[in-house]
Amino acid sequence: MASSSFLQMMMLVLFIIAFGTTKSGVVVNAQTSPPIAPGLSLIFHETNCPNLETIIRNRLWTIFNSDIAQAAGLLRLHFHDCFVQGCDGSVLLDGSASGPSEKNAPPNLSLKAEAFRIIEDLRVRVHAACGRIVSCSDIVAIAARDSVFLSGGPYYRVPLGRRDGLNFATQNATLQNLPPPSANASVLISALATLNLTATDLVALSGGHTIGIGSCGSFEDRLYPTQDTTMDQTFARNLKQTCPALNATNTTVLDIRTPNVFDNRYYVDLMNRQGLFTSDQDLYTDSRTRPIVTSYAVNQSLFFERFVFSMIKMGQLSVLTGSQGEIRSNCSARNPASSSSYLSSVVDIDQGQQEAVEGESAAF
Ligand code: HEM
Repeated sequence: MASSSFLQMMMLVLFIIAFGTTKSGVVVNAQTSPPIAPGLSLIFHETNCPNLETIIRNRLWTIFNSDIAQAAGLLRLHFHDCFVQGCDGSVLLDGSASGPSEKNAPPNLSLKAEAFRIIEDLRVRVHAACGRIVSCSDIVAIAARDSVFLSGGPYYRVPLGRRDGLNFATQNATLQNLPPPSANASVLISALATLNLTATDLVALSGGHTIGIGSCGSFEDRLYPTQDTTMDQTFARNLKQTCPALNATNTTVLDIRTPNVFDNRYYVDLMNRQGLFTSDQDLYTDSRTRPIVTSYAVNQSLFFERFVFSMIKMGQLSVLTGSQGEIRSNCSARNPASSSSYLSSVVDIDQGQQEAVEGESAAF
């Protein structure tokens, strides 16, 4: 549980960033950022929704103050959104007549239900202040950044202007794009290469596992029937207590040293053979990624810098911009048909939704 004094310190750092009076160690400067994708901009909502980032940060500050575990859920949500069909908010969509949603595909079933509720709550607040001009996918990206920062990690500016996708990915596409925790470094390097992400991006992004939890089903193959020989003995013994047999449903932390703080201790865990998933531990076993793990374990600033770089890169994967997609009026559903084709679909929605739609179109 993050103490409120820790969060207050984070707010102070933010104040310093906002007024630019000092060069803080946790602020990553623009020279270390990747190129901004066409159609996105750091100032996209500066004029039309100047309080956007404050609204989101203040709300998350309150939420994390009573439950810091929600930060991990929001960070993972952004990763799952971006790796499947790009950062288009498609992971947020409920299923429809066209088939089961991306949200209901196996890798997404362990996303925190609360993370979806928080994103919708943020959307309601942002749209109440600015109108329907900020996409759910932008809100997810900002919430992920704030989750990192408010957990003790680096602050960075998020390129904005994403639009929300009209369709979710199939369950097969979701499974193909989200690597399983049993994947080794070779599989991960190849998987990320298809998204133009390098081995350095892989190691840096895996540092997201410095916060949050995993369930027995995600690592039980390392314990039963035979114990993974790369695992530290005491660590394995403790995990067996949490997961006494196959199919246990308990959870444990991803970073045993500092489970709720965004720092570089995850890499120290790996060097001590205390990584939870094969996908974590093999980054230290594989000679291509091992030096990168070591460099982050001994230098937190380097990790922060590279994490920010890779997060901005990941956050721009196959984004929809300009007139592509839409700005959803409900993060879990595609917008009802526009007014021109509205009459043909009016029978599909109830009176309450209809009034909401009319209210919204009146505002634009
Ligand atoms: C590289 C491949 C990755 C694999 C195989 C992977 C796999 C997993 C798995 C299996 C879980 C736990 C699910 C469960 O057992 O309930 C998890 C949790 C998590 N992952 Fe990853 N992950 C990867 C990359 C990432 C990335 C890139 C990020 C963010 C930058 C991330 C952030 C998280 C977080 C924060 C959690 C904890 C969620 C919570 O506590 O609710 N992961 N990951």
